[in-house]
Amino acid sequence: MYGLIRPLLFGLDAERSHDLTLRALCMAPWLGSLSSRVPSLPTTLAGLSLRNPVGLAAGLDKNGIAIDAFFKMGFGFVEIGTVTPRPQLGNPQPRLFRLKEHEAIINRFGFNNLGVDALCANVDRAKHRLGPLGINIGKNKDTDNDHAIDDYRFCLERVHSRADYITVNISSPNTAGLRALQEAASLYALLASLRETQLKLSSSRRVPMFVKIAPDLNEADIEAIAKVLEQDVVDGVIATNTTLERATVAGHVHADEVGGLSGAPLIARANEIVRELRSALGDAFPIIGAGGITSLADAASKITAGANAVQLYSGLIYRGPSLVRDSVAAIAKLKQ
Ligand SMILES: Cc1cc2nc3c(=O)[nH]c(=O)nc-3n(C[C@H](O)[C@H](O)[C@H](O)COP(=O)(O)O)c2cc1C
Repeated sequence: MYGLIRPLLFGLDAERSHDLTLRALCMAPWLGSLSSRVPSLPTTLAGLSLRNPVGLAAGLDKNGIAIDAFFKMGFGFVEIGTVTPRPQLGNPQPRLFRLKEHEAIINRFGFNNLGVDALCANVDRAKHRLGPLGINIGKNKDTDNDHAIDDYRFCLERVHSRADYITVNISSPNTAGLRALQEAASLYALLASLRETQLKLSSSRRVPMFVKIAPDLNEADIEAIAKVLEQDVVDGVIATNTTLERATVAGHVHADEVGGLSGAPLIARANEIVRELRSALGDAFPIIGAGGITSLADAASKITAGANAVQLYSGLIYRGPSLVRDSVAAIAKLKQ
């Protein structure tokens, strides 16, 4: 089915096709049958019960308008956002580019979203939460890093009662200065403070908090980040966001577009980060692997690298919803 639709979608401007697909998904009753084709592979992640360990990565449904549809597609968990306290338009268009030959995407959206109150209203309307719903939080563009904590805390407080987990996104390359929050001292200050808020809010229900990191970090950076994460400031880590690297797509007409690269060219680097995190953090620390899954072998390779669960985005655009089923099947086979 997706094979038939894809040429039509790929014939349109990338962002227009993205918007149309999301809107169509909100109305697609046929999605009900897709989830029944996805094998069951119960997995526990940071105390959350997943029907399978394949999730939707953040950024596809920034405002949470198609939550039901993504669960019906068979995802074991769905992450919406990144959401910021106030609505913002993001960067001027064009800001989304397909690199078809590489099964890759470059985006510089810049956290375009309707703001946290609109997202909460959409979450309240969702009817088929067939698994954990993650809400990914960020800061507004015009909030400087010295006040970033206020934005994250504001979002955390707003979404807490509605989320099954919360992701602190400090790794988008499209908000100037955001990635500086990954530096150990800033990271500790941010996460320790958010942890306090999380624990205060968690008196009746514990909502795990994850942090999402970039692939553009060297081994020393990863070790420094791991040391922070070991101090019980988060419940898990998502690795990785999009990359600034372009070596894998050099020569492509869109290779030099500013933004983050995702999809197939990211798999090796993202897996390497998962391996380094696993080695630094030990067996018990929850790691969610994202970046570059476009085939069942890719999904399995993330688990082999040390991830407890995986997320995908670009692969869904190139391969369609069958990638969810194939990924779950490949991971199930690995675990037999
Ligand atoms: C168009 C686009 C928008 C994205 N927006 C966000 C976002 O708002 N927040 C976030 O944490 N990650 C965002 N991401 C990153 C993805 O969640 C994911 O980490 C990354 O794309 C790597 O996975 P993939 O290779 O399967 O796409 C975005 C990715 C794409 C392609």
